[in-house]
Amino acid sequence: MTNSEAGIRPEQVVYCPPAEYREYAPFRDYESAYQNYLKDPDGFWRDIASDLLWFRQWDKVREWEYPFAKWFINAKLNITYNCLERHLKNNRRNKVALFWHGENGTKKIYTYDHLHRAVMQFGNALKNLGVGKGDVVCIYMPTVPEQVVAMLACARIGAVHTVVFAGYGASALNQRIVGSNAKVVITADASMRRGKSIPLKPIVEEALIHAPSVERVVVLRNQDPPTCLLDDFEVDFYEIMQAAEKKCPPEEMDSEDRLFILYTSGTTGAPKGIVHTCGGYMVGAYYTTKYVLNVKDNDVYWCTADPGWITGHTYAIYGPLLLGATIFMTESTPDYPDVGIWWKLIEEYGINVFYTAPTAIRMFMRYGEDWPNKYDLSSLRILASVGEPLNPEAFEWFYHVIGKGKCPLTDTWWQTETGSHMITTLVGEPMKPGFAGKPIPGVVADVVDSKGNPVGPFQTGYLAITEPWPSMMRYVNDDEEKYRSYWESPNHRYYSTNDLAIKDDDGYIMILGRSDDLIIVSGHNIGTAEVESALVSHQAVAEAAAIGKPDAVKGNIVKAFVILVEGTVRTPKLEHDLKYHVRQTLGPIAVPSEIEYVDNLPKTRSGKIMRRVLKAKEMGVDPGDITTLDE
Ligand code: PRX
Repeated sequence: MTNSEAGIRPEQVVYCPPAEYREYAPFRDYESAYQNYLKDPDGFWRDIASDLLWFRQWDKVREWEYPFAKWFINAKLNITYNCLERHLKNNRRNKVALFWHGENGTKKIYTYDHLHRAVMQFGNALKNLGVGKGDVVCIYMPTVPEQVVAMLACARIGAVHTVVFAGYGASALNQRIVGSNAKVVITADASMRRGKSIPLKPIVEEALIHAPSVERVVVLRNQDPPTCLLDDFEVDFYEIMQAAEKKCPPEEMDSEDRLFILYTSGTTGAPKGIVHTCGGYMVGAYYTTKYVLNVKDNDVYWCTADPGWITGHTYAIYGPLLLGATIFMTESTPDYPDVGIWWKLIEEYGINVFYTAPTAIRMFMRYGEDWPNKYDLSSLRILASVGEPLNPEAFEWFYHVIGKGKCPLTDTWWQTETGSHMITTLVGEPMKPGFAGKPIPGVVADVVDSKGNPVGPFQTGYLAITEPWPSMMRYVNDDEEKYRSYWESPNHRYYSTNDLAIKDDDGYIMILGRSDDLIIVSGHNIGTAEVESALVSHQAVAEAAAIGKPDAVKGNIVKAFVILVEGTVRTPKLEHDLKYHVRQTLGPIAVPSEIEYVDNLPKTRSGKIMRRVLKAKEMGVDPGDITTLDE
């Protein structure tokens, strides 16, 4: 039993914000803003949405037929019109939209005008390949400006993008291409990582072997000599762009048309294609980038997430562009050529708002304060964190060593499914290390028991969202049952986040971790089922179970328990082969750090693996109720 299960209060530290933080506070005070939202939820969202440009206004703010919601009914818009033209009209034509810093020091700068032109021309190039409104385009690229151009070009012409993180392997990519029925794949010849060029195109070639929907592959070629292209099937990114018309008017999209599909790990079997739509997602991304991250017109803003994840979609690209901000983006990993690189970039680009993940902070902590202290970090104004719990030690380090105790630090809780921030501590509110904070105005959340009843302060329960919000996922691609599974149970009516949490007397929420079979490794969501099926697809493996094992830096590591096929010899080479096999099929992020060979696995009488029992044993704690465990 943990302290929180017993209702014991964790030691709480509270940082009362100095008066100067109020200067940036988005609302006069949280409580009255929240009450205003509760009094008139539709009015609240209508006012936010009215900051943006719509080709046609909505007839109604929302329709809510549990568990299906629609937002901004019959409104017409294009998100790129809001990310681009809106700023050209507002005198930001020559403002920097994007600073990009390559790993080898190459720099690229796009003004809003440049980005607008690139997006229009690449949009036309896609149209020339036969891509139309509603078609799906898979983007499998490194973090380069062309990735942003490709995403926005899809949105410009009404195509639905599905971005796949370039660290995924061929079988994970294949699953996402097939699942989304992608017509075109956009990739690059290679990505740069720690001074090495990692080929991407061969992974795409392998992923396309059983992917009949794909008609064309677009390749961004940066390598010398350039990769050869297969006639009539593969085309060069810049060649098709330069051959295309320059003007591309924005496609008029219905508020409920799909904007993108983003795959997130499933707890059973295949990953889930989370579908977000144009109007509601735009409003959620805009609102939270403005009110939570507090990005201002003169800021240089850096969100370190890869565009292959939801944080990259909402907060590296769409949110800041909707605000007309200046984005900084890099393909640099935090430790190459040394662990000072990110602080060096903050100094060099004068970053004001810095949004990163606890795993990165914990990695930096290991190397000490000397690295950040070498650089001038005084440009920083706001710090933010996402992806997993920001433990109090990491909070303190980030707040004091990086922010010098002068920058508000907001820990943002949300999910691929929620599209944008849900729970955090708004700038100007007291900060409690270890607690993400309260639901933001626009979100109604609580910590409940399995029957849906709110639990008392400091009692562990499930984090639940009880009202719909504009950027909520609309459905899981082709799987209504999976969508419903988030909402429906015999006892309650709310959105289940599948996270465990506690709430303190002031309503601050601390996230304790997942209640299901997802493992959050370095802030990335990995399904135990995916790792297990990758292992089982190796000829030497009869059965496998994967668990998340707590780790001081990564939050969790993947540990796999493997039953080998009779007669297989356990050699060090075999362990290496199994890890390599997972890397090839799923990608490096999913590779188990530890593999243990076992003769059997704990299962329920109905044959389900009880990962909870394995985890408890691994951590030397009581496994809890094991009455369903098979003898
Ligand atoms: O367990 C929570 C954790 O990440 C999960 C969502 O993962 P994903 O859909 O990949 O999105 C990650 C980026 C939003 C959540 O269910 N998580 C995310 N942010 C936090 C967090 N856990 C604790 N604190 C956070 N701030």
